[in-house]
Amino acid sequence: MKSKIIIFLTVLSLAGKADEGMWMPQLIAAMNISDMKKNGFKLSAEQIYSINKASMKDAVAIFGGGCTAEVISDKGLILTNHHCGFSSIAALSSVANDYLKNGYWAMNAKEELYSKDLTVTFIKRIEDVTSKILQNVKVGFSEIQRDSAIQSNIKLLEKKTKEEYKYDTFIRGFYYGNEYYLFVTETFRDVRLVGAPPESIGKFGDETDNWVWPRHNADFSMFRIYANKENKPAEYNSENIPYKPAYSFPISLKGYEKGDFTMVYGFPGRTQEYLSSNAVELLQNQQDPIRVELREKRLAIMATDMKKNDTIRLMYANKYAGVANYYKKWNGEMQGLKKSNAVQTKKDFEKKFLSQVSSEPAKKEKFTNLFNQFTKTYEEYAPLSKQYDYFTECLLGIDAIRLANSFVPVFTELKKKQEGKENKFEAKFKEVKPILPFKNFNKETDRKICVAMLDMFSKNIDKSLRVPYLDSLLTVYNGNTKALTDFLYNNSGFIDNKKAELMFSDFEKNAQLYERDPVYLLATAIVKHYQKTVIPQINYYELQIAELQKEYMKGLRENIKDKKFYPDANGTLRVAYGKVADYKPRDGVDYLHFTTIDGLVDKNKTGIEDYYVKPRLLELYEKKDFGNYVDKNGKLRIAFTGSNHTTGGNSGSPVINAKGQLIGTNFDRNWEGTMSDIMYNGSFCRNIVLDVRFTLWVVDKYAGAGYLLNEMKLIK
Ligand code: ARG
Ligand code: ASP
Repeated sequence: MKSKIIIFLTVLSLAGKADEGMWMPQLIAAMNISDMKKNGFKLSAEQIYSINKASMKDAVAIFGGGCTAEVISDKGLILTNHHCGFSSIAALSSVANDYLKNGYWAMNAKEELYSKDLTVTFIKRIEDVTSKILQNVKVGFSEIQRDSAIQSNIKLLEKKTKEEYKYDTFIRGFYYGNEYYLFVTETFRDVRLVGAPPESIGKFGDETDNWVWPRHNADFSMFRIYANKENKPAEYNSENIPYKPAYSFPISLKGYEKGDFTMVYGFPGRTQEYLSSNAVELLQNQQDPIRVELREKRLAIMATDMKKNDTIRLMYANKYAGVANYYKKWNGEMQGLKKSNAVQTKKDFEKKFLSQVSSEPAKKEKFTNLFNQFTKTYEEYAPLSKQYDYFTECLLGIDAIRLANSFVPVFTELKKKQEGKENKFEAKFKEVKPILPFKNFNKETDRKICVAMLDMFSKNIDKSLRVPYLDSLLTVYNGNTKALTDFLYNNSGFIDNKKAELMFSDFEKNAQLYERDPVYLLATAIVKHYQKTVIPQINYYELQIAELQKEYMKGLRENIKDKKFYPDANGTLRVAYGKVADYKPRDGVDYLHFTTIDGLVDKNKTGIEDYYVKPRLLELYEKKDFGNYVDKNGKLRIAFTGSNHTTGGNSGSPVINAKGQLIGTNFDRNWEGTMSDIMYNGSFCRNIVLDVRFTLWVVDKYAGAGYLLNEMKLIK
């Protein structure tokens, strides 16, 4: 009996740990490949990352502002999520040609739609530059001296390598600044929309299902990279030709079984797995709750207005999705952290760590001090963090304030011009001009948001800590935020398209008048206040915390010898490997590791608005026209779950089987596992993947764009 329990426990702890980690591709050969092979991987580390030969890394790209995409044909065709292509699809849409609502498919190259401002970036090579970045950083340096030496080293080396390699480069710190790596990149700027399913498929389940398993949306869109005749990046030009990549992923139609090896290759944005217990406590009990409460108010107002009017819906669709996404994520995260006793777990770990290093007096003293410093620093940081959150999530949650504030450089440069000094007025004026008329702004919606945010601000921020100008306005209006807001919104030229037109026609002449615009005055007072008071203090504490984290990280790596540490995500290329896995979310409930179109149809039958689909999908379902995209039981699968450690930015990442073939596109995580950015737990943290067979079914059968499959390498 006893020995059985012991065996069970060790298996359990292994299962909990095995799949954690976002590894650096250039170190796979040294750090992970044998473990990966043990878990079923059939290829070599060189096939994942190589600087001499074509490898998978040549088919994985940063898509737009913060997603991943993979190349799936030798004609530069790329696959990413619908929510990653969302802002591009929205920008190409109008009420008459609504590609969000109806979807879009190019039926030939000519119909591919150039997406302005969309870029796709590949990594050419990665180099360790730690010694170069830390070379003149002396032991006795203060945090500020250290930081400025490092920043200037980074700038210099980036500049030098740019010239040397004839490519763009950037440098990032890893392990909290214990190591630095250089990334040589190539960015394509002519990227065109090839196709996307209607929102009712791409976003099926919308906010109801977001961050939730089981899932039934086909969260994908396709684009194509164009290059000049030399296969190099170029500005949009109708003469450009499809990019010929060094590598593209073959696509498997054979599916997967529970327990199969999976690998996610992409650009995870940010994780914080090595925080101290104090940091987790702050996050769970203060930061997450504040942000959630503020966003909830904003979202409710937007949703009401979007439902009433299609123009407003299109204007706010992208913003709403963005605000809603992290609103829900933080909510899940704080619940998950509480439920799994994260703070206590961290505390226990810290205690254990201390006792482990305590055999050496010098170490004991060092780390005792370190943990005390953490406690003290977070105590002082917490009230500042609250103020900062009220600045960014509350006051800057009002569009009018943010928009008016973007005019600050215009006035600054104009003043120089009027004083006869050298200035950049024309350039700055040009920059703000396209903001007007405000495309994604509805004055009446924002007016309601303003009232709600000012209410929250005056309720929760102590009078002594308020922006003095805002406080004096509140006093004048007897604390009546509605009356104050009406005064602002009825008299401002910045947020009224008609008045703004006039303003632009005589901006220079009447600048003095416009500088006294009530919204502009308030916006600049707010931003200046925080720039002078809270932000410098926040920066100061963040430097302190960074320094403590750096020492802590170093200590962990030096003293826990039997554990491999991966660096926290920082928007750079990473490999996460795990397996196709189901999970038990709570007592008595067992989730399957995949979903099928049957479940989509069931959800649709509930009549819930978020589960609406167009009749065409239901017709195809009735006909059971599934082609050869089904599993061995004849079921058309939609999504599956895995134990891959992923985060925001991993959306759109290729999910690859043991043979390096594409089996899906990563797009989300499960509700219970949203805490994985802070504390990954292999027994219930899951990534959610769109089954590539469903993607192809939609392209082929639903959209009738099956011609695209001819350029893919399909493994049947
Ligand atoms: N939760 C996923 C991710 O973090 C999908 C987001 C799509 N956005 C949305 N609001 N539904 O990005
Ligand atoms: N949905 C996320 C993204 O857009 C992925 C995640 O957070 O799991 O990157």
